[in-house]
Amino acid sequence: MNVHENVHKTVSRRSEARLLGLPARVFRLRKVYGTWKTWESGDNMAGMRLTGDGPHDGPDYQGSGKRSIYGLIGLDNALKLSRKESGSLFAKHVNPGLKTMLSAIGFDKNFVAAEGIFVYDEAGTRYLDFLGGYGSLPFGHNPPDILAGLDKAGSRPNYLQAQASALQAALAHDLAVILPGDLSMAFFCNSGAEAVEAAIKLARRYAYITKGAGHSQVITALGSFHGRTLGALTATGQAKYHEGFEPLVPGFTYVPFNDLSALEEAVTGKTCAVMLELIQGEGGVYPADPGYVAGVSRLCKQHGLLLIIDEVQTGTGRTGTLFAYQQYEGLKPDIVTLAKGLASGVPIGACMATEAVSKGFEPGKHASTFGGNPLACAAALATLDVILNDGILDNVKKVGAYLMQKLQELKAEAGAVAEIRGRGLMVGIELIGANAAAVTTACRGRGLLINSVGEKTLRLVPPLIIQEPDVDEAVDILGRVLREMQKQ
Ligand SMILES: Cc1ncc(COP(=O)(O)O)c(C=O)c1O
Repeated sequence: MNVHENVHKTVSRRSEARLLGLPARVFRLRKVYGTWKTWESGDNMAGMRLTGDGPHDGPDYQGSGKRSIYGLIGLDNALKLSRKESGSLFAKHVNPGLKTMLSAIGFDKNFVAAEGIFVYDEAGTRYLDFLGGYGSLPFGHNPPDILAGLDKAGSRPNYLQAQASALQAALAHDLAVILPGDLSMAFFCNSGAEAVEAAIKLARRYAYITKGAGHSQVITALGSFHGRTLGALTATGQAKYHEGFEPLVPGFTYVPFNDLSALEEAVTGKTCAVMLELIQGEGGVYPADPGYVAGVSRLCKQHGLLLIIDEVQTGTGRTGTLFAYQQYEGLKPDIVTLAKGLASGVPIGACMATEAVSKGFEPGKHASTFGGNPLACAAALATLDVILNDGILDNVKKVGAYLMQKLQELKAEAGAVAEIRGRGLMVGIELIGANAAAVTTACRGRGLLINSVGEKTLRLVPPLIIQEPDVDEAVDILGRVLREMQKQ
C-alpha cells in the first residue's frame, strides 16, 4: 500500500471525524489532478481551521500558516488537543485498557501546563505534584537551569557513537568524582531498565572473563523492582510482574529482603552477583537494614561476587545524600545503576562500575544508539550542578524530616495509617485498609498528585525543591481524604 492509499484509508473514515469531534465531510479525500486533497473545509479541533486545499494539506492553525501533510495532526495541533480528543486518540492508538483504567480512577486529566512543583489541567485547576514523574523530577517541571543546559547543547551533533563525546566524557568524569568508592567507569543508556540490563550483562561478562563460563547466577530480593525489559523484569522479585512473560531469563534467584542467612544459603558456585535496592521503592518503600547490607557486602567479598546497587530511584539526592549507599558505612558497590532524577526528566540511564569490572565490556560487547547523547548528558551535567550548588541535599534532609514529622502526627490523629517508611523525600505510607488506589484518586480530586504501590501503600516522591508549606498543604489534603474515607 503506498502512502496515499494509507492516508486515504485512515483519514477518510467517518469514525475518525467523529473521534476528533469534526463533521465527517471534513475528512473526505478527493483526488484532484493526480494529487490528494485532504481537507475540504470546516472547523476545528481546539481552534484549528481545516482549510488546506494543497496536495497534502492537513489541519491548519488559524493564522499560523502552518500545515501538516497527509492529514496528520502534527506537533502544533497536537499541542492544542482537548482532553476528549487526546483521550480518544490515546484509546484508539496507544492503549485502550489503560485509558479506561485512568478514566475510572480520575487520572485522565489533560495537563496542559506545569512549572516547578505545580501542574495545571485544561480547566486551570492547580495540582501539587508529590509524584514528580515517579521520582524523576528533582527540580519539578520545566526547571530553567536544565532547559538552559539543553539549549547550550542543542547545536552539538547528535548520536555519533564513533566519537569520544565531550559531554559524555565530562558526565562520566563528574559522576566518578561524586560517587564514593572506585566507580570510575560509565556506560550511558536511556532508562533505568537499560542501566540494570547493562549491570547484569557486565556482571556476567566479568565473571566469564575472570572465572570462565558457567558463573551466571544473579541473586536479587523478593519485593524488588528493577525494570521491565526482559532481563530487568526477571531480576525483579515480584511474580505479578512476571506473569505471562515466561519463559524468563535463566539464572536468577530471589531471596527474602533483609534476611542475610537466606542470601547465604542461595549463593552457589555459579553465582556472579547480588543486586539490591537500598530502599525497595515499587515494592512498598522498604529500607534495607544497615546490618543486613554490611553482611551482604561481606558475603560478596568472601565469595568473590559483585555487589550491584540499583540506585535508579534512590540516586541523585532523593534520600538526602547524593546516593543512598553513602548512608551505609563503608559500603563499596562494584556496580551502581542510575536513571530517573539524573537528568531531571530527560531520559538517561547510567551503569557505573569500577575500572576492573568495566573490563567486561570490551568494545562491541554492549552499546546503545541513543545512550550518552549530548542532550541527555547536558541535562545530567546541569542537574548535578544544581544539586551540588543550590543547597538541594540540605533541603531534602530538612523538608524530608518535616514531612515525616507531619505524617507521624497524621498517623497519630487519623488512625488510618499503619506505618510510615522511607528516607529524605522518598516516603511510603502504609494504610490500614487495602484502599491505597482509592486514596490516591481522592487526593487527585483535591489537587494532590501521589501514587500507590501495592494495595496498601501510598508513595510520595516529590521534587527535591518542595518547602515546608507545600508539605503542610499535601498532608492537609491527605488528612482530609483519610478522615472522609473513614466516615464512609
Ligand atoms: C529501583 C528501580 N530500578 C529500575 C527501574 C526501571 O527504571 P525505568 O522505568 O526508567 O526503566 C525503576 C523504576 O521505577 C526502579 O525504581
